Amino acid sequence: MAQKWLRLVAKEAAPKDVGKSRARLNPKIFEELNLKSGDIVEIRGKSSTAAQAWPSEETPSDSIRIDGITRRNAGVSLNDYVEIRRVKRRVAEKVVLSSVGEELKVDEDFLSFLKNRLIGMPLHQDNIASVVLLGNPVRFKVISLKPSTIAVVDESTEIVVERSLPAIEGERVTYDDIGGLSDQLMKLREMVELPLRHPEFFRRLGIDPPRGVLLYGPPGCGKTLIAKALANESGANLILVRGPELLSKWVGESERAIRGIFKKAVSASPTVIVFDEIDALAPSRAYMSGGWSPETIVSQLITELDGLEDFSGVYVIGTTNRPELMDAALLRPGRFDLLIYVPPPGAGEREEILRLLARRVPLAEEVDLGEIARRTEGYTGADLKALVREAALNAISEGRSSVKHQDFERAQQFVRPTVTKEMLEYFSKLEQKLNSRIYSEARQPYL
Ligand SMILES: Nc1ncnc2c1ncn2[C@@H]1O[C@H](COP(=O)(O)OP(=O)(O)OP(=O)(O)O)[C@@H](O)[C@H]1O
Ligand SMILES: [Mg+2]
Repeated sequence: MAQKWLRLVAKEAAPKDVGKSRARLNPKIFEELNLKSGDIVEIRGKSSTAAQAWPSEETPSDSIRIDGITRRNAGVSLNDYVEIRRVKRRVAEKVVLSSVGEELKVDEDFLSFLKNRLIGMPLHQDNIASVVLLGNPVRFKVISLKPSTIAVVDESTEIVVERSLPAIEGERVTYDDIGGLSDQLMKLREMVELPLRHPEFFRRLGIDPPRGVLLYGPPGCGKTLIAKALANESGANLILVRGPELLSKWVGESERAIRGIFKKAVSASPTVIVFDEIDALAPSRAYMSGGWSPETIVSQLITELDGLEDFSGVYVIGTTNRPELMDAALLRPGRFDLLIYVPPPGAGEREEILRLLARRVPLAEEVDLGEIARRTEGYTGADLKALVREAALNAISEGRSSVKHQDFERAQQFVRPTVTKEMLEYFSKLEQKLNSRIYSEARQPYL
């Protein structure tokens, strides 16, 4: 019997549900679709995926909460509509998987390990499934599935791992991977995601959509991470340009390279171009050094930015930890006209980040991440990542399979905080200065 489809809005999953193929639904939806907890639902956007239905009172009855990988498998972004229906729970007889971006040595042990991780998980043909192996997420593409396109792995399932596929361009960072920074994300989503996904809305209202945003802040606090997540989640194509790389790879020809990048972006639009560490590319003329001419690169960048049509569907994000080194001409309205400070995490955010990082690590019961967060003042997201890694290595070197509190203590002797008081002061002064600059320009736009 064909089950009925319901239309719902895709919302973000709670952190505890990430990576578990869960769809959180209001009990009303459970009633409407005749669901029980753990039943399998098919979720359909531009493509299709499957998840286990779990009830939650907090989920509004017009919404479904699913994580980044599920959204991606369904071919939707946050706030897009999906259609869902209940499907019969079928046990997979045989699953053929292919690892993505990683050559794996596949033997008997590996397969049984993998199967254990997959048991209970609903798979859908052509989807990407993420499995945590030895602390690292490994992605598999579901090449084929018997007896149907949606099936659940159990003890009896035969699992085959085929050749590996090349990694999909760019890492698939999603909003789930970001701890804290909710204000910054909200602002960015409003300024970037909205115009990219709904240009007609801006056109109708006669608003010029913003062109570019510059993310600045101390190293390791998530600028590159946010830029990638935003590009991925807005459903746009992502062109990631690393400033220093562009310079070295295209010695003397960076202008031509920049022209090419914009051309490609327009033809593939909607596109987000991320100029990572843009200060390398666009230093102010006062900081110019020999060997190449920053002036022509800056002017090429400006030419391209100014040449973009209002609704070209191309959006530019720059990241830097030295905004004061950038040529001021680039920061004028219509170019990088929005500046967003990405600050180091406070204790609460550090705890959130630690939780995200620890998703991939077997922690002993005694480990209190809140306590570790409080003891890591001055640690950036990147520092915390190094800390968790160091703690895990310490556990391994002592032959343990779970990470204990003492491992974190030891790790803290090696991994030191990046953010100093001076650095904080420097950035908060800079933030004030840049904010007032934007403000005064907003009042006198043609100055
Ligand atoms: N807010 C955060 N939430 C989760 N992880 C984070 C966060 N900030 C940093 N990280 C971790 O640290 C790594 C480095 O962060 P990222 O590359 O985004 O820093 P950045 O601000 O671009 O630094 P840089 O100025 O050196 O380029 C990330 O890949 C991520 O693992
Ligand atoms: Mg970066």
